[in-house]
Amino acid sequence: MYEDKILVLDFGSQYTQLIARRIRESRVYSEIFPFNAPLSRIKNFSPKGIILSGGPSSIYDKGSPKPDRKILSLGHPILGICYGMQVLTYSIGGRVAKAQKREYGRSELIIDDTESLLFKGIGSEQKNIVWMSHGDRIDKIPRGFKIIAHTDNSPIAAMASRDNKFFALQFHPEVAHTNKGIKILRNFLYDICKCKPTWEMSSFIDQSIASIRERVKDKKVICALSGGVDSSIAALLVHRAIGDNLTCILVDNGLLRKGEAEKIINTFERNFHIKLVHVNASRDFMSELLGVTDPERKRKIIGNKFIRIFEKAARKIKGVEFLVQGTLYPDVIESVSFKGPSATIKSHHNVGGLPEVMKLKLIEPLRELFKDEVRILGQKLSLPEEICLRHPFPGPGLAVRCLGEISKKRLDILRESDKIVLEEIKKAGLYNHIWQAFAVLLPVKSVGVMGDERTYENVAAIRAVYSLDGMTADWAKIPNDVLGRISNRIINEVKGVNRVVYDISSKPPSTIEWE
Ligand code: XMP
Repeated sequence: MYEDKILVLDFGSQYTQLIARRIRESRVYSEIFPFNAPLSRIKNFSPKGIILSGGPSSIYDKGSPKPDRKILSLGHPILGICYGMQVLTYSIGGRVAKAQKREYGRSELIIDDTESLLFKGIGSEQKNIVWMSHGDRIDKIPRGFKIIAHTDNSPIAAMASRDNKFFALQFHPEVAHTNKGIKILRNFLYDICKCKPTWEMSSFIDQSIASIRERVKDKKVICALSGGVDSSIAALLVHRAIGDNLTCILVDNGLLRKGEAEKIINTFERNFHIKLVHVNASRDFMSELLGVTDPERKRKIIGNKFIRIFEKAARKIKGVEFLVQGTLYPDVIESVSFKGPSATIKSHHNVGGLPEVMKLKLIEPLRELFKDEVRILGQKLSLPEEICLRHPFPGPGLAVRCLGEISKKRLDILRESDKIVLEEIKKAGLYNHIWQAFAVLLPVKSVGVMGDERTYENVAAIRAVYSLDGMTADWAKIPNDVLGRISNRIINEVKGVNRVVYDISSKPPSTIEWE
């Protein structure tokens, strides 16, 4: 689909995704394949260059990751980063020395070959700081290579083959601490691989629309709309391509935030004129959830019920052959480093199971994009900022934030508290710096005093975290006065809450959601 592409082979570094991001920011399309991707798949992808990522292994470990050696003879330029440098050295006949100790942190890079294509335009008028994070290092460069830079601790911090095909760096150009890192990567992309910076959102939109049209023709398509960023933008893009042949279905499970269903209807039906079926199934969900306290059972009930109700609504639309899903790139990369354990810790539910049950073909227009690229796409499609920049919201909704028994009354208490948390976070200008902020209703009562009366009411917790991808998170350092306002307002305005606490746990070991 895109002419100039770069392949990143993943050896398990925590920075692999960052490498792909940096390349895309440089307007060259890139994908991540696992280190052991078969040669045929790599050839098929037809990259203009290959980057070997870092990774936690030592090349001498039993079973350490190694790529198919034949990638070296494909004729594409290759850049090895950290462990990728060691793999390259090992495969071409240099020598890797086992680490006596790890080198971690900042170092000053001294460029030995200022003529090297990799260092084009990188002067020495200011210090070139690089970020190191490695154990093993290169002891002897392969034949036909030269050292192009060193640091105090690493005599071979960068090397290149004399024919300008292979390059390797001991440090990480992709992290922000390496001050000329982006320039080094761009030299590799533009000057060494000869990529043109043509990847951009508007060409992505045009190409996606064309390919959706070609695939769907005049068939009918449905989309489960949750009001979340991903499904909203996927629906908008498909609507641009096929118009009224798309019908969106909004299943209101009674577990949405305050005013959410109305907001979705307003945006999609009234603003964008997208066909929308609104199924109010709150009662159905509530009758099955009543009295259930076990978190996994809640998730299972909601997931199964959702499938049944969605399927019933979809059957009323004649001739449906496709289902739109807002799958993102991080969900599809078979990356060594990315797949964390969280998927098995909680059973996540979106529209899981639906395509099989309904025998539908999937349209996943966002499967090549990262979350922030999706947000840019949303803006290009004129989706209001309020939806584009929205915090993620879990499929099972408020059920996993209403600890203990679920009832309409408890959900309403939670909804009111949650509304106040979001209002105050937005008022303080913090919303866009925080990954997620919300209220949780605890299954605990505590004593308080209001007026002259003793009260015995619920405890609400505030959860707010910083995160890049939801896989790890740190609790947000919300200023005390904002926390104070949230607490005051909840206790004064929400009947049924007399105490508010703030959750100061990070992930891991805690998770973002409480259930
Ligand atoms: P945890 O709680 O596992 O959440 O740290 C990580 C991220 O995933 C979201 N989340 C879900 N999203 N269905 C979803 O679509 C789910 O069942 C689900 N559970 C958690 C959570 O909000 C956070 O952003």
